[in-house]
Amino acid sequence: MVKKLRNKILAANWKMNLNRLEAFSLLQKISNMTIRENDKEIVFVPSVFLPMCEEVLTNSCVFYGAQNVYFEEKGAFTGELSITHISDFGARYALVGHSERRNIFGENSELLNKKLKGLLSHNITPVLCIGEPLKERENKTYEAFLYKQLKEAMVGICAEDAKKIIYAYEPIWAIGTGKTARPGDIKTTLEFIRNTLNYMYEGIKEEVYILYGGSVKKDNIDEIINTNHCDGVLVGGAALDFDSWNRIVNYEVK
Ligand code: PGA
Repeated sequence: MVKKLRNKILAANWKMNLNRLEAFSLLQKISNMTIRENDKEIVFVPSVFLPMCEEVLTNSCVFYGAQNVYFEEKGAFTGELSITHISDFGARYALVGHSERRNIFGENSELLNKKLKGLLSHNITPVLCIGEPLKERENKTYEAFLYKQLKEAMVGICAEDAKKIIYAYEPIWAIGTGKTARPGDIKTTLEFIRNTLNYMYEGIKEEVYILYGGSVKKDNIDEIINTNHCDGVLVGGAALDFDSWNRIVNYEVK
């Protein structure tokens, strides 16, 4: 039985949304939000808004991060941002392996592994996303699929570093679709991920944070976040509206 972790992580993934004015207004509201003392709130913004985050969120209790980063320090990588670029603007977190990066932009495990290592060496916390497509869920092969994703992403990463990573389970079929995994499935899958990490890194299971993501809304947050093994949530669409995000961050403890 895993000890109940005291605090939760509430992470917002804005994806490629909001214009400058909308982003500024939402960040200002977010900077004045109340949040439970031990919880952590992180917003993943389009990187062009990182300087705005630095301006608006620096004296607040809200952390922010980038949705994507390249692992090389500098050079001829047109269109990419380095880890130093984002950390220079105060980003302390970065998403790695979001299914949209894997599926639309063709990011493979080898690349994700390099990103994880680069971020860890710069003391930026990666949020490693894993999740199965519908076919794997229906065929009941999702455990093997998730294990492979984890194993490949973590090649050469030591236990000390593995503890620093935040893990996010986002079944692809639940992202942006309005379909949420059932609480029972969320619990067993998060538990599977925790046990898999423990198998890979003995004794790690009580120290890692594992989030759930995929159509988390203000109407289902209480049920999801109170599910055993759920250390928080990664929220897309419902994080773009302040009232909805505020309700999610102020979930009810059951
Ligand atoms: P969603 O996105 O909440 O809109 O389903 C979640 C995510 O992609 O991180």
